[in-house]
Amino acid sequence: MSWPSPDFYFMFGVGEMSGAKAKMDSNNASDPNRSEQERKYYFAYEDRYRRVYEQGVPFWSAFPQELKEELEGLEELLRFYHEHASHAGTCTRPATQVRPRLLEPGCGEAPLAPRVVSPGLDYVGVDLAPSALKKAKERLEVSLGDGSSPSPWFSKHGVTPVVSSGRCHDLDSRQSPVPVIGPSGSGCRPLGNAFLIQHDVTELTFFEPQSFDLAVDANLLHMLVVDSDRDRYLSGLSRVLKPGAHVLFMELFREDTYDGPVESFDEYMRIFAPDLVTVEERTAFKEGEEVKIQLTQVQSRPRSRRGYLEELGPSGFEVLAFTVLESGLECRIIARRL
Ligand SMILES: C[S@@+](CC[C@H](N)C(=O)[O-])C[C@H]1O[C@@H](n2cnc3c(N)ncnc32)[C@H](O)[C@@H]1O
Repeated sequence: MSWPSPDFYFMFGVGEMSGAKAKMDSNNASDPNRSEQERKYYFAYEDRYRRVYEQGVPFWSAFPQELKEELEGLEELLRFYHEHASHAGTCTRPATQVRPRLLEPGCGEAPLAPRVVSPGLDYVGVDLAPSALKKAKERLEVSLGDGSSPSPWFSKHGVTPVVSSGRCHDLDSRQSPVPVIGPSGSGCRPLGNAFLIQHDVTELTFFEPQSFDLAVDANLLHMLVVDSDRDRYLSGLSRVLKPGAHVLFMELFREDTYDGPVESFDEYMRIFAPDLVTVEERTAFKEGEEVKIQLTQVQSRPRSRRGYLEELGPSGFEVLAFTVLESGLECRIIARRL
């Protein structure tokens, strides 16, 4: 795969930064309507990551096939972005201007972040799982040197994002979450042009509207199983994207799945009857060798093509491309924020 040079992005820059500023006094208390069981499931991934790392696996998301599909998706997203930028005739921006910004909700270990930052985009990853964010930080430190220079975006606006520990679900009752980024002097360093924020994606309210030029959702949306959570996430995502921003969704796909409403977690359990007990064997890599790891399943909610179209449209997205992947169980969607 070949990546465009950094200059490419500056040439085809997508407009001035407009007041992008993370509000740190966010009123993002978690949804009181979530049941205890539901809260637990939204943290299920933290448990999975820990189990993987206990086996001595450095990065879970090093699995080549999964990464390959995500990288192909990212490449397609950037192609759309490039085409749009050239049609919009915005190729006269000087290289000194603020870099385009990509948001990745549910970034996990942020396997795509180095690929985003190196061709000249700023990257902001958001995830609930502190263990994965710690790995994401390590990954970025390796690929971005010591990360001592803060992003022009944040420095220009005097913004110092902090980890919103204690504001999401029951995070404060867990072991102290990893401070991934934070104000200088707080012990949490900004990482070059990449930022990691521990937060719930259904509460993206701490970003100013129209803060991002692009977004990647790699296997997140299908983790949100209740309509109200999905609505909040998608409308929040739409709000923080600039009009015309492109988004990549990589999600579970089933043509014959239930696409009707799911009003509560209990209803999800009743309709989808997911097997959250049987242990599945997953593969990870340790020093080039395969390691088999036993993990309990997590909840997920696939959709059909029509289901995704009917959901994304009212949330403010136009679907530009819909591809069912080779497995027939996953799809890749490129959408545009209207
Ligand atoms: C299937 S993993 C995908 C991780 C990453 N995008 C990748 O492709 O490697 C789903 C991720 O979504 C995160 N997640 C699930 N629900 C979330 C929520 N409500 N807010 C923030 N992150 C969430 C999990 O912690 C997990 O890291």
